[in-house]
Amino acid sequence: MVADLIRRKGSVVVVALLAILVLNVGVSVVKGNEKVVFEVQHKFKGSNGGNGRDGSLLTSLKAHDNYRHGRMLAAIDLPLGGNGSPTDAALYFTKLSIGTPPQDYYVQVDTGSDILWVNCVGCDKCPKKSSLGIDLTLYDMKSSSTAKSVTCDQDFCLSAFNAPSSDCKVGFPCEYSVTYGDGSTTGGYFVRDYANFNQVSGNLQTSSMNGTIVFGCSSQQSGELGSSTEAVDGIVGFGQANSSIISQLASTGKVKKVFSHCLDGINGGGIFAIGQVVQPKLKTTPLIPNEPHYNVMMKAIEVGGEVLDLSTEASGDGSGSSSIIDSGTTLAYLPNDIYTPFMAKVMASQPGLKTHTVEGSFKCFVYSGNVDDGFPVVTLHFEDSLSLTVYPHEYLFALNDNQWCIGWQNKGMQTKDGREVTLLGDLVLSNKLVVYDLENQTIGWAEYNCSSSIKVKDDKSGNVYSVGYHDLSSACDLSVGKLLRFLLLIAVLLFYPS
Ligand SMILES: *[C@@H]1O[C@H](CO)[C@@H](O)[C@H](O)[C@H]1NC(C)=O
Ligand SMILES: *[C@@H]1O[C@H](CO)[C@@H](O)[C@H](O)[C@H]1NC(C)=O
Ligand SMILES: *[C@@H]1O[C@H](CO)[C@@H](O)[C@H](O)[C@H]1NC(C)=O
Ligand SMILES: *[C@@H]1O[C@H](CO)[C@@H](O)[C@H](O)[C@H]1NC(C)=O
Repeated sequence: MVADLIRRKGSVVVVALLAILVLNVGVSVVKGNEKVVFEVQHKFKGSNGGNGRDGSLLTSLKAHDNYRHGRMLAAIDLPLGGNGSPTDAALYFTKLSIGTPPQDYYVQVDTGSDILWVNCVGCDKCPKKSSLGIDLTLYDMKSSSTAKSVTCDQDFCLSAFNAPSSDCKVGFPCEYSVTYGDGSTTGGYFVRDYANFNQVSGNLQTSSMNGTIVFGCSSQQSGELGSSTEAVDGIVGFGQANSSIISQLASTGKVKKVFSHCLDGINGGGIFAIGQVVQPKLKTTPLIPNEPHYNVMMKAIEVGGEVLDLSTEASGDGSGSSSIIDSGTTLAYLPNDIYTPFMAKVMASQPGLKTHTVEGSFKCFVYSGNVDDGFPVVTLHFEDSLSLTVYPHEYLFALNDNQWCIGWQNKGMQTKDGREVTLLGDLVLSNKLVVYDLENQTIGWAEYNCSSSIKVKDDKSGNVYSVGYHDLSSACDLSVGKLLRFLLLIAVLLFYPS
């Protein structure tokens, strides 16, 4: 449905189709001509062989990694800016330093996708100004002495996407097009260059560490990516596919495949670190195997003490609602058969309240009291007794002094095989420390003060260091009806131009 398969003579397009949105975004997948399209298996598809996520293979990969990487694994501190408020920035971003001499690029942190890309010179429609208080920069291969283009015969192009090599002419560029859940797309070609990272070298201290990374040089945008005033230079995908930045750094032995974020919903900014978190200790829930995103199993939702048992009411396999954890999504989206009984419970305490629709999609109401007194606390319960509490002031957002809107949205994500899944974005992830442990295939979290610090292990030295809070942003003007990000990766296409 999302991707038409087009078959013509000439070059090759590779499609990794991951999920289909229920809200029917118009995804025009192939704009070019003279292309052949192959739909390829995502690396996590299929039940065994090469997916790296069933127990035995995982163990052997881990052993292999430990052997290969020895004691060189660094912890990295990525400074954060932005905030999750739908009426403000509605996104969190970090700063990456790329090229020789290095240049800074501000990129949205997105655990729902697998590619790092930045806008490149030659992009006419790329944003030039941002209301986030950051200077935008276009990457220029010609002005970096360490930049190299990635060709379609190179490993990154072939193996990261499982692409067929038959239609690649040696030396031709590896082009891509990415489609996100909100229908926005970006496209360009892959390049390889040095990047500098802040390696944790002491308590709240860092030193520079460099590594080579492959990333997309985007020369076209469509949809909201190009038109939003809250513009950034690109997106850094922290998904688990081989192409993501975390997988690239881990495969060259620079870091462990563990990272964490604490998105500060109160002050903006927060904490983002690569490396094993030693403090605080967190409870965890297993990642559901063979999913392209970070899916965990939600078993129940508790609304003000009343429990909605998802293992009996939800669609799916009867064990709960598969839920995607995505920092690149602003709000939280529930499948309709959960949303309806859930919202009835949330609004039960305010029977006289009338809602009206704002900007076509938000249910809003007039309320002058303290929302934390008038609405119930919501607690999401996950497999292995991990819970996540969301307070009324987190799931309701103020339009103005006495108008509030509901952050929960009635639209799940539909997977390829027709299941509807929950999508949990910054609305529920803010003010929590969230740890993604890809080595152990778990996600853990706990309520946390994101303006403070965490303790992370530096496997190079064996020392434990504090990694602190950052806020890169300056205030941006409040207004209604901003872009709500929905940066869940839908599809990646590769092109081998002829
Ligand atoms: C991803 O990387 C792993 C380890 O380097 C490799 O074994 C696997 O084949 C790669 N996956 C794909 C789809 O190429
Ligand atoms: C990368 O790091 C090494 C070792 O610290 C240093 O010698 C080299 O100059 C750095 N290269 C770049 C391009 O920053
Ligand atoms: C993974 O689990 C093992 C055993 O439970 C534990 O020793 C290890 O510290 C965990 N790895 C990380 C990165 O937390
Ligand atoms: C969070 O931590 C910061 C830094 O330690 C502190 O100044 C602030 O008061 C804390 N906030 C809360 C709500 O405890």
